[in-house]
Amino acid sequence: MNENQNIIQHNYKVSREDRNKSFGHPSFVIWFVGLSGSGKSTLANVVEQRLVEANYHTYTLDGDNVRSGLNKDLDFSDDSRKENIRRIGELSNLMVDAGLITLSAFISPFAQERDLVKSIVGKENFIEIFVDCPLEICEERDVKGLYKKARSGEIKNFTGISSPFEKPQNPDLHIQSADISIEEGADKIMAFLENRLKTNF
Ligand code: ADX
Repeated sequence: MNENQNIIQHNYKVSREDRNKSFGHPSFVIWFVGLSGSGKSTLANVVEQRLVEANYHTYTLDGDNVRSGLNKDLDFSDDSRKENIRRIGELSNLMVDAGLITLSAFISPFAQERDLVKSIVGKENFIEIFVDCPLEICEERDVKGLYKKARSGEIKNFTGISSPFEKPQNPDLHIQSADISIEEGADKIMAFLENRLKTNF
């Protein structure tokens, strides 16, 4: 018998709806997809800053705070990336339950895992933003110096070079981050969120 069958659901006294009411806004996931260096985390940070200034309750998940702790046992093999995204999907789901607007910025290179996250958090709670920056530009900027290492073979399985990236086919929002500034990108995202944020509780 699977040990999980012995986990009995507790009847929580405070629900997500209660938390949404208490915070005065809905909770959902904004999922940023894109190559390393495409601007996902930078955009997520600016959007979060704007949301917090407007009194929304938020949290940003990215490689820096997740791969250094919760997922530090995972590398960049296909299987580890899949497990990385699955766990972040579950974590994002808990954050939505906690009433937070959750900004998750991960390469998330595989369509199947992005679909999995969507089904974990529920499609009505999931906004997919494709931060689309051509590989040549990410590589030219090479902010972290990782593309150079990937080209020289020092880093294996590097997304876009030696590991695949499946572009989102139908994102809710498509940001061409090489053509516009971070502030303009954040403007587009805030405009997109406007109706959703208006929901009254
Ligand atoms: S994902 O593929 O599992 O979604 P994730 O977003 O968590 O990736 O981590 C990507 C970040 O890890 C990159 O921005 C880069 O800084 C770093 N990194 C280190 N090794 C690799 C690699 N082999 N491929 C891609 N990114 C890597």
